[in-house]
Amino acid sequence: MKILGASDADLAVAAGALREGKLVAIPTETVYGLGGNGFDPVALARIFEAKRRPTFDPLILHIAGLEELDRVADLSLLSRESVDRLDRLSHTLWPGPLTLILPKRAAVPDLATSGLSTVAVRFPAHRVAQRIIRLAGVPIAAPSANPFGYLSPTRAEHVAQQLGDRIDYIVDGGRCSVGVESTILDLSSGGPRILRPGGTARERIEGLIGPVELWKGTGATPTAPGQLASHYAPHAALELYPRGALERLGPPQAGEGYVFFDSPSREAWLRRWGPSVVSGTEAPVLRLLSEGGSLLEAAANLFEILHELDSLALKRVYVERVPDEGLGAAINDRLFRARSTAKPGAPL
Ligand code: TXA
Ligand code: MG
Repeated sequence: MKILGASDADLAVAAGALREGKLVAIPTETVYGLGGNGFDPVALARIFEAKRRPTFDPLILHIAGLEELDRVADLSLLSRESVDRLDRLSHTLWPGPLTLILPKRAAVPDLATSGLSTVAVRFPAHRVAQRIIRLAGVPIAAPSANPFGYLSPTRAEHVAQQLGDRIDYIVDGGRCSVGVESTILDLSSGGPRILRPGGTARERIEGLIGPVELWKGTGATPTAPGQLASHYAPHAALELYPRGALERLGPPQAGEGYVFFDSPSREAWLRRWGPSVVSGTEAPVLRLLSEGGSLLEAAANLFEILHELDSLALKRVYVERVPDEGLGAAINDRLFRARSTAKPGAPL
């Protein structure tokens, strides 16, 4: 595996490798993606293999312009209402952290969609991703660049640690600004449904197209494995508590991590436990998602902090939920699935 930068020469190498069917991890504004040529079944199979991902789990195809949508999605199969919704959403929220489920074109290999008649499409906002897709000249299939079920990567180093020996290149585009995966919205039939909360807030979508349903999977046959009860999990045991509840746990011990949403929560905890921590020899690790209580900042820091705590080999990590509005819905969703009490595949 070789790490590339964002120079013209490096991006040409990345695009050339993708065209040849190699695997290239690429930066996007949400998380790093494990990219492969979306029209090449062998490249798609390599993605599943590198991720150790069950093949029932379909991939997102990434495009670099609205005009490319027609290559992967058959919009003639959409109802008038859905076409209208697609127009509003794609013109306002693309490029950005929104994935749309649409009827698929025959040219899209079944391996990309796990045999479904629909395809997931996203136009990412990251300039480096856009340039690579354009240079490659094909849609790029890219799941999050982590082994199946583990934390998503928000830095090139995370990808190198997790998948470095299984892929050809990593393009280092710096830290991901959004930090949680895209919101997945199904427009393919019936009313619009959010299949996965993510980097585009539900309120933003509803402001454009009216009410959308939040789809609650059965867990047994997930439409999106991000819907599996256990996903995005760190190695440490993660326990999730209501906001403000961490100060009621204790006494704190070495080998533990505490992740607070904002400084008032941390201050309250420190008032209660600070003296014992200061006098003890081995303190727990304290982290803050956002000093000023910004959900945008908290989303950007979420996986970053969980990766860091995992690298410290902590036994147990206590996290408080964040307000359930805007990007908070996506953060709470990821935390819920990352908690250690969740059983893989269990109903939600
Ligand atoms: O932000 C993101 O979306 C990142 C970056 C790299 O773009 N990608 C990402 O991909 O999160 P992945 O593969 O980790 O998650 C994609 C989700 C999966 O849970 C998959 O089941 C769902 O999208 N999906 C893909 N195609 C689908 C379809 N036709 N119908 C329903 N769900 C679909
Ligand atoms: Mg993923």
